[in-house]
Amino acid sequence: MTIINPNYIYINGKFQENLAVAFDKKIKAIDTIENLQKNYPQATVEETKENSVLYPGFINTHVHLEFSANKTTLQYGSFMPWLDSVIKNREELMGACDNEMMMQECQNMMKSGITTFGAISSFGLELEVCTKTPQKVIFFNELIGSNPSIVDMLYGDFLERLDESKKYSNQGVTPAIAIHSPYSVHPIVLKRAINVAKTENLPITAHFLESQAERQWLEDDSGEFLPFFQKFFNSFKSVTKINEFLESFDDIPTHFVHVVQANNEELQYLAKKGHSIAHCPRSNRLLGCGRLPIETLIELNIPFTIATDGLSSNNSLNILEELRAGLMLHHLGSLEKLALLFIASITSKPAEVFALNSGKIEVGKDADFALVTLPAKPSSLESIALQTILHTKEVSNVWINGKKEI
Ligand code: BEZ
Ligand code: FE2
Repeated sequence: MTIINPNYIYINGKFQENLAVAFDKKIKAIDTIENLQKNYPQATVEETKENSVLYPGFINTHVHLEFSANKTTLQYGSFMPWLDSVIKNREELMGACDNEMMMQECQNMMKSGITTFGAISSFGLELEVCTKTPQKVIFFNELIGSNPSIVDMLYGDFLERLDESKKYSNQGVTPAIAIHSPYSVHPIVLKRAINVAKTENLPITAHFLESQAERQWLEDDSGEFLPFFQKFFNSFKSVTKINEFLESFDDIPTHFVHVVQANNEELQYLAKKGHSIAHCPRSNRLLGCGRLPIETLIELNIPFTIATDGLSSNNSLNILEELRAGLMLHHLGSLEKLALLFIASITSKPAEVFALNSGKIEVGKDADFALVTLPAKPSSLESIALQTILHTKEVSNVWINGKKEI
């Protein structure tokens, strides 16, 4: 048993003082240090520095490890030139990305406090790394393919990767499904994949309405996607419409990624059907996709997580850097309240969305923690989330299932 006695603990969306936590693999008790030491006299007491804040381990719901080799190769600023640059450089970037590089990025995530992440896997190349990294992984096997002549083959490949990932559920990998996007997945295989998710109760996610170009293509088969589909697929027409795609997920709560270009009606529909959103502020900015109106998400009570996306559309997988960027992007409303929502977006919210036994400091939850040390005493309890986001480049310690990893 271990006892940790930080200055502040993030419990139930607030910061509390004069409390300590006793844990082994799970959180056993939350009480004063005196009571815990009395009840667990054999426990080791962890030393913490002054101005320490204990958080549940952070959760990054959306990352593409397979693209970890990109630093300066891909073109930023606008979605279609970026996608063209991905297609042009894909082979080279994949070739340059090995297990060592992906493991290093898992470590980098951990230094920012990430104890669980959702890996979007296009090819299954990161599966081994995901079984070896100390973090827990929701392994989203991605389905892609709009061309009807090859979708069966691509669907078969997707099922094989899904089956392979199922073999590692005792090594911290939860098998799951990712739908690449409305424009790139044929409705026939989309329905099959959704049925698999429903019958096997697998987590499901999908990129949705990321760019203006995507919206235009889905709405009236025009815009920047038209020359793209003509060139690569000899196709002039989108395989689906926005509503048709959305309605396919009616009976399965889905974590939709980006959703920057959704209108109010579509956001209301997401709210009504119990869906949630992954928000990637830096990726949206770098690909010129616009700003997700998170004030509308808050108004409609749509649960949202904040995630890094991959290094194909970001300069780091550090979740606290992501939150800092988000704070600068979203200038409306109360800053301290937004910071609190952002902390929830990488702890309790993703845990609720994916039914994880983590993301909260509560008796019975997994002992996954990120310990942050502030540079000086915070002026109020209400300001701790904001000061954490502003000042933390790396966390001080990380525990996963009670094991100290950093
Ligand atoms: C497709 O298979 O339709 C597709 C793949 C990648 C990007 C866009 C479309
Ligand atoms: Fe993504």
